[in-house]
Amino acid sequence: MAKKILVTGGTGYIGSHTVVELQQAGYEVVIIDNLSNSNADVLEGITRITGKRPLFDKLDCTDMDGLKALFRKHTFDGIIHFAASKAVGESVQKPLLYYRNNLLSLINLLEMMPEHKVKGIVFSSSCTVYGEPDSNPIDENAPIKPAASPYGNTKQINEEIIQDFIHSGAPVKSIILRYFNPIGAHPSAEIGELPLGVPQNLVPYITQTGIGIRKQLSVFGNDYNTADGSCIRDFINVVDLAKAHVKAIERMLEDQSDEPVEIFNLGTGTGLSVLELIALFEKVSGKPLNHQIVGRREGDIEQIWAQPDKANNVLGWKAEMTVEDTMSSAWKWQLRLREKGVM
Ligand code: UD1
Repeated sequence: MAKKILVTGGTGYIGSHTVVELQQAGYEVVIIDNLSNSNADVLEGITRITGKRPLFDKLDCTDMDGLKALFRKHTFDGIIHFAASKAVGESVQKPLLYYRNNLLSLINLLEMMPEHKVKGIVFSSSCTVYGEPDSNPIDENAPIKPAASPYGNTKQINEEIIQDFIHSGAPVKSIILRYFNPIGAHPSAEIGELPLGVPQNLVPYITQTGIGIRKQLSVFGNDYNTADGSCIRDFINVVDLAKAHVKAIERMLEDQSDEPVEIFNLGTGTGLSVLELIALFEKVSGKPLNHQIVGRREGDIEQIWAQPDKANNVLGWKAEMTVEDTMSSAWKWQLRLREKGVM
């Protein structure tokens, strides 16, 4: 019988791409999402790609009664927990919202697991836990730096909650995945990143500028200590990233490791600057991108990229897509949104 996986936040950007990979790998998926930052139309895209419609419940993970009912209805083998608020700037304005939503959601899910014999949980963490690294590339043993925002702090605290819960003897396993900068869309252009309102992240801002929804991209700073002065990130293809979740679920459910908690960096291992990424976009779209250098954005890290050896060698996962192909997929998705009249 197919193993059943609960995917929280499964209509979101990384969640939806992961649901596709899970279904294609033969898992049965139940999505819950409160739709605060996504749209249930995403289910149609997932269905068109995989030929199978995932089960969906509109449910908020902070709603314990709702979760209890869900866990009575289904027997889950594992959980992938994406559901969280993720806007760095908003978290500074509304810290309690971020702490309540991000911490309570995880606590509620963990509480359900032993009673319902759910074997493991994959948690979406972020390279933000490393803060400004002392050196690059950065591996999983690098020190955790004081968080620069309530959002970043929720990732650090949630990692600690998982560690403490498991060290207390709780009969569950966990894999914590620290994402670098996920970008791009499914090659079919059926699903992709769909930020509500003005994008905060670089790539949706680039593609929206490219298509004329935004007049100009602001590049936040060209006076950093990097070759071209702009920040450097490890841009990781979202489908590659999604595939790592399938590996993580397999690893936990098949007891491939004796460690009850494991942490993996998910990145390509190569850093690219903001200006280099813009140049790649210009290449794949075949037109210049209107952009202007402005001042630095508060809280930005100068440069960070992953040492992904542990994920490569232990998890058996490696980023495959080039950044150029990934930017092509992001552009194709933006063109598809226009075709469909979405934006
Ligand atoms: C941030 C968070 C990360 C989080 C992610 C999710 C930090 C340090 N990083 O990543 O943890 O998971 O958001 O939303 O908290 N840029 C521009 N112009 C723009 C937008 C961005 O120049 O209009 C630049 C930024 O200055 C940065 C790079 O592009 O150097 C990437 O920015 P962004 O896409 O927002 O991601 P991060 O800040 O790296």
